[in-house]
Amino acid sequence: ALPAPFTAPFAVPPTAKPVRIAGNTDFYSMTMREQSTQIIPGFRTRIWGYNGSFPGPTIDVQQGREVYARHINQLPATHAHLGYTPTTSVHLHGSASLPQFDGYANDITRPGAWKDYRYPNIQDGRTLWYHDHGVHHTAPNVYMGLAGMYRVFDPLGRSLPLPQGIYDVPLIISDALFDTEGQLLFDDGDQSGLFGDVILVNGRPWPLMKVQPRKYRFRLLNASVSRSYRLRLDSGEPLVVIATDGGFTDHPKSVDSLILSGGERYEVIIDFAKYRRGERIVLENVNPRNNVRYTHTDKIMAFEVARSVKRANTNNSIPDVLNPDCAVMALEPTPEMTRRTISLDRQGGEWTINELTWQDVVDTQFTQVLANPGLNDVEVWEIQNDSGGWHHPLHIHLVDVKVLSREIDIDGVLVPAEHYEEGPKDVIHIGENERVRVITKFGPQVGRYMVHCHNLVHEDHDMMGQIEVGTGGA
Ligand code: C2O
Ligand code: CU
Repeated sequence: ALPAPFTAPFAVPPTAKPVRIAGNTDFYSMTMREQSTQIIPGFRTRIWGYNGSFPGPTIDVQQGREVYARHINQLPATHAHLGYTPTTSVHLHGSASLPQFDGYANDITRPGAWKDYRYPNIQDGRTLWYHDHGVHHTAPNVYMGLAGMYRVFDPLGRSLPLPQGIYDVPLIISDALFDTEGQLLFDDGDQSGLFGDVILVNGRPWPLMKVQPRKYRFRLLNASVSRSYRLRLDSGEPLVVIATDGGFTDHPKSVDSLILSGGERYEVIIDFAKYRRGERIVLENVNPRNNVRYTHTDKIMAFEVARSVKRANTNNSIPDVLNPDCAVMALEPTPEMTRRTISLDRQGGEWTINELTWQDVVDTQFTQVLANPGLNDVEVWEIQNDSGGWHHPLHIHLVDVKVLSREIDIDGVLVPAEHYEEGPKDVIHIGENERVRVITKFGPQVGRYMVHCHNLVHEDHDMMGQIEVGTGGA
């Protein structure tokens, strides 16, 4: 029997401790290994965690400090149900890493081996996440637990009076199916997606979080294999968005609900001072289209306002101005810029980008590219969803993008759709029949970087391509 919603206590993942700090570098040692943990009461579930944690420990770093992470693959030789060998490649999603440290899908590490990664942390402060990207096994690898949060803090963020410390809270949302033994069941239908009947927040089913009557900063991350969410509060109070994937927006923006598709991050402020002591507020999922619903997939978690109040009212406000100087948000299209169309489709059972699969990239010795911009070139991409009846969260590695427009094709007529992301993004939700125009500047690194659907089942089958920035890359 599944647990009743709002019975599991809320918890945040542990914070990773560097094994060594030397000069400007923080060193981490991360071991991927199988372990049993209680997710559903009464069962021990086999998971694959980084350092045994499900989800992985949160890595916190100050902007400008380098991180060296040794990722050691100590996973079993085969996946117990699916039978494949868990080769891994760790991607730090949201980081402008050098190509050899970006978790390239075919740069795999076998069980028993390890790889060192270097992260520059030179971008604006933001919420990132690290997760597995092993070729054709990303979905089951992440589903087993190979995902964790990574936060870069910068001087701007520290100067703002926003909630911090224990009031700055990761919410890693995912979904899962369990078999009768309490093991994670991987069922990806006809390669369209995996949709669990249990919603997990930081690895706990529909948890209940006790909160103080004050403001909290929540870092929302959708680490689900396939499910996307439309989040809102059952109280009808708005969510105040302060950051998107690539960091702060220029101003805070109140929204009644927001779409969180695979790989996306939003940071929101919720003010619990508005509620009575003891009151319960539910974070709901207003099931967007193209997701399989179950009894309780319309709920994420609940907050209960504490009766006893701790006096901690510093860093308890939302400034009117956050980051007015975000570089990507200042980009505007000009007539000379290169424009490209990126078409998302399904052909012969495989998901494609511009009619190509990742296998096509492999078969051409990785020479096939969707685009080959020069370093610091600015391009406008029109991403169109031609796959009918599906949505695709498209992730472009290396860069942040600004969304210029969002339109929906209704019987051949393009109608403007809700243009809701007003901050730097690296995953763009492309809804059914939508066309989304984005602008980006390719840099600061050169080399080959992946572009793919963040529905991980689509990514594995085989909706992934690559760009090459500049020449002489990896
Ligand atoms: Cu979050 Cu290429 O992945
Ligand atoms: Cu997709």
